[in-house]
Amino acid sequence: MAAFPEEWLNELLSKTDIVRVVGDYVSLTPKGGRFWGCCPFHNEKTPSFSVTPEKQMYYCFGCHAGGGVIHFVMEAERVSYVEAVKLLAQRAGMELPDEVNDARLRAERAYKERLYNACKEAAIFYNKKLLSAEGKAAQEYLKRRGIGGKMAVRFGLGYAPEGWHNLMDYLEQKGYSRKEMVDAGLAIASKKDGGAYDAYRGRLIYPIISATGRVMAFGARTMKKDDEPKYINTGDTPIYNKRYNLYALNMQRAKRVSELIMVEGYMDVISLFAAGIENAVASLGTAMTQQQARLIKRYADKMYLCYDGDSAGQAATLRGLDILSAEGIDPKVIVIPGNMDPDDYVRKFGKNGFLELRDSALDANTFRLTNLAGKYDLKTPDGREEFAKKACAFVGSLQPVERERHIAFISKRTGLSEAVVKAQCGLFAAGIENMPAKSRNTMGKARKEAEDEWDSAELTILSLMLMDADTATYTAAAMMESGVELQNEAIKSAAEELLIKYAGGENMSTAVMISELEPMQAEAISAAEAQAEKIKGDVRQIADDCVKRMLKAKLSAELEDEFAKASGLEGEERKQSLNKANEIAKKLKLLR
Ligand code: UTP
Ligand code: MN
Repeated sequence: MAAFPEEWLNELLSKTDIVRVVGDYVSLTPKGGRFWGCCPFHNEKTPSFSVTPEKQMYYCFGCHAGGGVIHFVMEAERVSYVEAVKLLAQRAGMELPDEVNDARLRAERAYKERLYNACKEAAIFYNKKLLSAEGKAAQEYLKRRGIGGKMAVRFGLGYAPEGWHNLMDYLEQKGYSRKEMVDAGLAIASKKDGGAYDAYRGRLIYPIISATGRVMAFGARTMKKDDEPKYINTGDTPIYNKRYNLYALNMQRAKRVSELIMVEGYMDVISLFAAGIENAVASLGTAMTQQQARLIKRYADKMYLCYDGDSAGQAATLRGLDILSAEGIDPKVIVIPGNMDPDDYVRKFGKNGFLELRDSALDANTFRLTNLAGKYDLKTPDGREEFAKKACAFVGSLQPVERERHIAFISKRTGLSEAVVKAQCGLFAAGIENMPAKSRNTMGKARKEAEDEWDSAELTILSLMLMDADTATYTAAAMMESGVELQNEAIKSAAEELLIKYAGGENMSTAVMISELEPMQAEAISAAEAQAEKIKGDVRQIADDCVKRMLKAKLSAELEDEFAKASGLEGEERKQSLNKANEIAKKLKLLR
């Protein structure tokens, strides 16, 4: 994470009391060494959110948000790490260290502020134009598309008049330089004469607004049929990077929402809102990015992908699913029938029609299989066979429990018996499991329960490592001896950080160490800390038990897989596979 000098950070954290910082947001009551209150990050009536003054950490037993004081400010104020540190420094009355406070950075910040203000002025300008006589055609265009004045106001829509210098003249009057206009993406420098002209002309304007409510960029749609390009969007500027933002995220007022619907287009978002579905966001003229996936994770508990019904939309869905999976998000897919997009659909079938579609959303893997089936002609035997092979290869790579559901699906589509489909899947099942963390997003419910057991063991391991250097090294050694490894990336890396800290002696305080962790790692440590008080008795004994539980879970998974594999084999291969299963079973028995 961002570099502030350790000594300075240490001083800041020693001057900062997490109980008082959190107390500004949540009313806290002391009880049993902790302070309790209602969680600011999810809706609740009875307090499950707690702060420990001793460890200077917070943790919510309900939504599992957690971390140190810097993470809290990041989360509560929705700001970056650096900004959170600055806020805390202000609060503590501390000057920023020289590296951060230097003139160059200050000038940069001031310049960005100018660009934000220029964008805000531009948005006001475009909006006024839309409401004026000049904007008549644009108003009518919107009306034809079912967007009335109310939505236009809510989304701050605008109209950029025809002509080359309308906005530029306006901004010049307001004191903005040509360079500022060009840098903000509002004007384009012409190569020839060193002049510049308005970036958007004769187009409908969608301002793109940050989660904190600042206009950063614009999307500009032509109102002519078959005009190319349909949209002109602000490129990356010092205040805007489309990969890191989502359209309409500013409309979500709650700190955290229960679900978000991700659509492709500006218009899809607005139409859904107009119909009363107020939780849609869109990626911005690009395929979904990893950064956007992370953003979603911070805002919503659950998400739906709802791209256009055409083949491009379906292909984008597949890519989106992979990106979301990589971030540990398990989305559902709302499939829009025909070649419609969410805008078309909700206008045709209304709010309820759309909500019905949402209620029949597919899980990610069912979507993948449905999409695959669409690539084959299932009316012919060859098509069915080819599809079956591909589909079974895919399903074989999933956890056994999830396989069942898809086996029925493939059998139905191909007319092959479930037994044959199962055997075919088994051919591919070899050696793919025993990767709990990685395959979490493709898991069925029962498997998930088994892995919850694994997760709780991992968390206990981390709690033990938090205790002291001795316990930490003992625990790490016990795991190494048994050949079990932490699978949860956050827990694993947090554990590594702890071991590094212990190896470095007592130089670094736990508070500083935590303050420098990624939010995910800090959350893991908080969760571990929160359950540490439950750990009573001989810690080495507990470590040994934990490792044993993990080893058992690992071997059980291996056994399950080996059986699944054997069921797809014949003759000598089957015998070998069963022998291997037998050996695993023996090891398991020894453990019990
Ligand atoms: P769509 O073509 O589906 O547009 O592109 P739309 O939002 O449904 O717009 P309408 O309904 O035709 O008015 C989806 C998104 O892809 C980006 C825009 O963000 C758009 O909202 N896009 C599309 C561009 O950036 N440039 C283009 O030329 C086209
Ligand atoms: Mn559309």
